[in-house]
Amino acid sequence: MVRSPTVDDLAALLDVARAAARAAGELLITGYRTHPAFELKSRANLVTRFDRESEALLGRMLRETGIPVFGEELGGETGEATFYVDPLDGTTNFAHGHPFFCVSIGLVERGVARLGVVLAPALGVEWSGAPSVVPSTRNGAPCRVSEVSELDAAMIATGFPSVREDRDFEAFLATKRVVQAVRRCGAAAIDMCLVADGTYEAYFERKLNPWDFAGAAAIVAGAGGRLSSPSGGPVDLFSGALVASNGLVHDALLRVLAPTDFATTAV
Ligand code: IPD
Ligand code: CA
Ligand code: CA
Repeated sequence: MVRSPTVDDLAALLDVARAAARAAGELLITGYRTHPAFELKSRANLVTRFDRESEALLGRMLRETGIPVFGEELGGETGEATFYVDPLDGTTNFAHGHPFFCVSIGLVERGVARLGVVLAPALGVEWSGAPSVVPSTRNGAPCRVSEVSELDAAMIATGFPSVREDRDFEAFLATKRVVQAVRRCGAAAIDMCLVADGTYEAYFERKLNPWDFAGAAAIVAGAGGRLSSPSGGPVDLFSGALVASNGLVHDALLRVLAPTDFATTAV
């Protein structure tokens, strides 16, 4: 019988998740800029031994809570409440020695992201949060989404799935025309946390998995941000497509994205 975390447990679970993320981050940093060997899961989808070792370590530490753990590389178990872990988000960056990679842990209970920890070891930044229990933090200090309300003044981000297909460019072009800057940095969890801490005004992506963004979804929510589906409805952590923002630019961004391949081909 899988135990559901109570609200009181969440603060304690956050401590366990932070400890696990830090241990995994220490492991990952040993492989950073070493040109680690990689295998191809598909033509442009990389995996290294660091992904697998990080996930094994996270699994060992998080399973001590009694809550099932499901990860990108090793799978696992799910329950009413599940830790979704991305042991290395941004593997392509990591393999090339680019500093935008992280460990991501999210606790999802009945479809709701309850807590998250995202640790980017090469950047020296850790974000965490558990909406309704503790405010989201960046390196221990409370963080909030930005107050920029015009797309014209916004820096936004997006990501492209590793599958090679001729999509995502309509959305990229349409947003580039109306915002101050668009970034595409290759680690979905970091991108979303940069919305939570007020760096970006918004982020959107079409084809994610729950381990990519469950943790960051909790952190965005706990920082006062808004998450939605491409049509503006409630975000579905299992649908793969989402818009995250400071709330203020959200509706305007949805209108820009509506006619593009982001909204019309979201899976
Ligand atoms: C990928 C990264 C990337 C996003 C892809 C993800 P991975 O995760 O988050 O930014 O655009 O959709 O699959 O494979 O590096 O863990
Ligand atoms: Ca990922
Ligand atoms: Ca990964």
